[in-house]
Amino acid sequence: MNIIKKPTWQLSEKDVTPKEIFDKRRDFLKLGVASLITSNSVLELFAKENLPIKNLDYQIDKNIQDLKLNTYDQITSYNNFYEFTTSKEGVKPLANTLNTNNWDIVVDGLIEKEFIIRFEDLMKNFQLEERIYRFRCVEGWSMVVPWIGFKLSDFIKYAKPLSSAKYIRFETLVDEEMFPDQARGIFSTIDYPYVEGLRLDEAMNDLTILAVGLYGSSMPKQNGAPIRLIVPWKYGFKSVKSIAKISFTDKEPLNSWQKENPREYGFYANVNPNVDHPRWSQKRERVLGSFFKQKTLMFNGYEKEVAHLYKGMDLRKYF
Ligand code: MTE
Repeated sequence: MNIIKKPTWQLSEKDVTPKEIFDKRRDFLKLGVASLITSNSVLELFAKENLPIKNLDYQIDKNIQDLKLNTYDQITSYNNFYEFTTSKEGVKPLANTLNTNNWDIVVDGLIEKEFIIRFEDLMKNFQLEERIYRFRCVEGWSMVVPWIGFKLSDFIKYAKPLSSAKYIRFETLVDEEMFPDQARGIFSTIDYPYVEGLRLDEAMNDLTILAVGLYGSSMPKQNGAPIRLIVPWKYGFKSVKSIAKISFTDKEPLNSWQKENPREYGFYANVNPNVDHPRWSQKRERVLGSFFKQKTLMFNGYEKEVAHLYKGMDLRKYF
């Protein structure tokens, strides 16, 4: 995030999928596989849009705010995943080394009983939901993504934390064969594992999810397969990818970017147009696929749902 690059988010308008096409695709999906196979026009539409085949069952988000979705291509071709590279376009072609088979997640710390659970077994315990969210990177770009996941609060209840647990801490897997930048040791871009954390009440908020897919299909490797955090009112760096360890603790976790540069990145990282990054304004953002910038919303548009979590806190100090 410290690296200045040309603004590659300036994609042409034709790259944006109109919402009607996405909605139509959902209607087609409801028709079932038989009708899909017989319909050439549907197959053409799938190919043209470059959409994956839906493989997850979930409750649909009605998108009552009528947010305009970014395309599957945009969401999966412009990524921050430093374990691979600092080039946003470079992540997708490199991410094939990530192997999500036999993915275990360690759950430890202040809980009734520590355990290790395989990703597929974990999934069986929770109801998947689609969550169409704004996603705002601290760097000033944003997108709207139809994530699929389950509530982090449901996972927390399942893990049974002790009353002494005040925070939850997440770690990305460390595996030098899968993640080329980790193999660079002290010359790595950041100190691994990538760590993030939340206060337990933030983690219990209804908006916070563990995401396992997007656009109806399993999470693409470049977006943090098989499972990642999504906290839509915070800058994107809080949404840690490819989680291999979840710990409950009584101490505020030191997250990777705060450790890297505490003057520029804090623990809270709430989207806030009134608190600028030391090197750039946070008042506006560029949505992937559009040329003009739009106003950044307080708490990324989720003020009603989360402002109470920070009542009485000086948001300049706790940035
Ligand atoms: N998680 C890990 N493990 N490594 C990373 O480099 N980058 C973060 C976050 N999670 C990152 C990560 C940042 S800075 C952003 S903006 C988002 O992932 C990007 O998510 P996306 O590639 O799905 O858009």
